[in-house]
Amino acid sequence: MEDLLVSSWCNDRAVPETYIFPPEQRPGKLIDVPVGNNIPVVDLGVHDQTQIIQQIFEASQDFGFFQVINHGVPNHLMDDAMSVFKEFHAMSGKDKTIECSKDPNKSCSVYTGSQNYAKEKFHLWRDGLLHLCNPQEKYIQFWPEKPTRYREVVGPYTTEVRKLGFRILEFISRGLGISPGHFSSGLAENPILLVNHYPPCPDPSLTLGQGKHTDPSIINILLQSEVYGLQVFKDKEWIGVKPIPYAFVVNIGYPLQIICNGKLKGAEHRVVTNSNLARTTASFFINPLDEIIIEPAKTLVDASNPALYRSLLYKDFLIKYVAASGNTRALEEAFSNSTE
Ligand code: OGA
Ligand code: NI
Repeated sequence: MEDLLVSSWCNDRAVPETYIFPPEQRPGKLIDVPVGNNIPVVDLGVHDQTQIIQQIFEASQDFGFFQVINHGVPNHLMDDAMSVFKEFHAMSGKDKTIECSKDPNKSCSVYTGSQNYAKEKFHLWRDGLLHLCNPQEKYIQFWPEKPTRYREVVGPYTTEVRKLGFRILEFISRGLGISPGHFSSGLAENPILLVNHYPPCPDPSLTLGQGKHTDPSIINILLQSEVYGLQVFKDKEWIGVKPIPYAFVVNIGYPLQIICNGKLKGAEHRVVTNSNLARTTASFFINPLDEIIIEPAKTLVDASNPALYRSLLYKDFLIKYVAASGNTRALEEAFSNSTE
């Protein structure tokens, strides 16, 4: 596997055929997609909580995406985390594999493509480091020990980002008018860190770092580097998300769309590559435990607002999600309550 990692290749190789997407899925020229201030930016440092709740709610309805600034996670921790994430992906393929093989239950892994390389029709221009985070005392022993500061930095980093996640979920609950504690009973207990690495690509117009997908998490809190690459699909068009220093990009995942009975949008997005810069990002997926039921919040459902989605265990959600490859129409078909 380690030889398959995109970051293990030499740079001057042309794009192999298996990485070339069919014309209708190719991202085309990067300049065709506007990058602007279109994704709302929410300042979490202001005193007016009602304003924060409203801004987050509107952004989650309209875009399913927003950025947060003044969020309380210290800048130096974000810098240190990004440094160790880059250092990890700069190691040899062999070292990466060794560092991710400490848990026989595979709570930590390194992979390339979509986690199921063998079954991919087209390979993604992406390597990933994935590990469980909570409880930290249980999982930290399985995290990489190289780079040497990995655990020392990523421990506090994930603790802080998790706190931020709970704050955002509380704002979302208040915007929806459901109990502020709705997400404290297992729905947010199994966060996963995914460190994505997209090396420079000889022809970004043919490849994708990640295909169009909706996330299988409640929300994702993304640390982007200064390099652009994330695009959101809104009103049948792609828009680029501008990197803002020390901001986090937050997006709504499909399970939250189910929980809020369709009031907020699990937004589709993808990642494009670029020809001269490597891009490293870290997704902190706020995920439910396997045995937790995903269903529309009871307080949002009544005779005039019927449940639009079926109830199911998160582990069963995941099986269907994988089968649908994150494709929104397939997800709607799999989870919709309608019998038509
Ligand atoms: C993801 C994702 C975006 C990025 O990890 O699901 O969409 O820019 N990441 O890496
Ligand atoms: Ni995603």
